[in-house]
Amino acid sequence: MKIAFGCDHAGIEIKDKLLSFIKGLGHEVIDCGTNSSDSCDYPDFALKVSQNVVSKNADKGILICGTGIGMSIAANKVKGIRAAVCWSKDTAKLIAQHNNANVMCAGARFASTDDICSWIKIFLETEFEQRHSRRIDKIIQIEQQY
Ligand code: RB5
Repeated sequence: MKIAFGCDHAGIEIKDKLLSFIKGLGHEVIDCGTNSSDSCDYPDFALKVSQNVVSKNADKGILICGTGIGMSIAANKVKGIRAAVCWSKDTAKLIAQHNNANVMCAGARFASTDDICSWIKIFLETEFEQRHSRRIDKIIQIEQQY
C-alpha cells in the first residue's frame, strides 16, 4: 500500500523509526513532514496527509502529534476522511474493523515507539467489516448535509 505519513514537532523524534517500520512492512511511504524539531502547526500536516488519502494518491494515512487528538480533529475536516485516535492494540484494530478509518492518529507523548509501531501494523492489516456499513453510510450522510 501507499501510506501518507505526517507528524508535528511532538512526533519528529520517532518519525524515522516509524517510517522505517512502515517500509519494512512492505509499504511505500509518502512523507508529508514535518522535517525538523521546530515548533509547527499540526493542521498543516493533517491536511497534507488527508489530501493524499482523499485524492487516492495514498491508500491510508498515519498522523502523529503529542496526543493524536489535534491531528484527528483537523484531518476529519476533510471530506472523505475518517481519522481516529488509537491508544492500544484493540483500538488500532477496531478503528479499521468498525469505523473504516482511513487515517490512524496516535500520540507520541503518551505511548512508546514500539507500541505505536504495533498499532500501525494492526491498523494497516485489518479489514473493514461490511456489517458496519450502515453506520459509515450515516457518517457520510452527515458529511454531505453539513
Ligand atoms: C503540540 O504541542 C501539541 O499540541 C500537539 O502535538 C498535539 O498534541 C495536539 O493535539
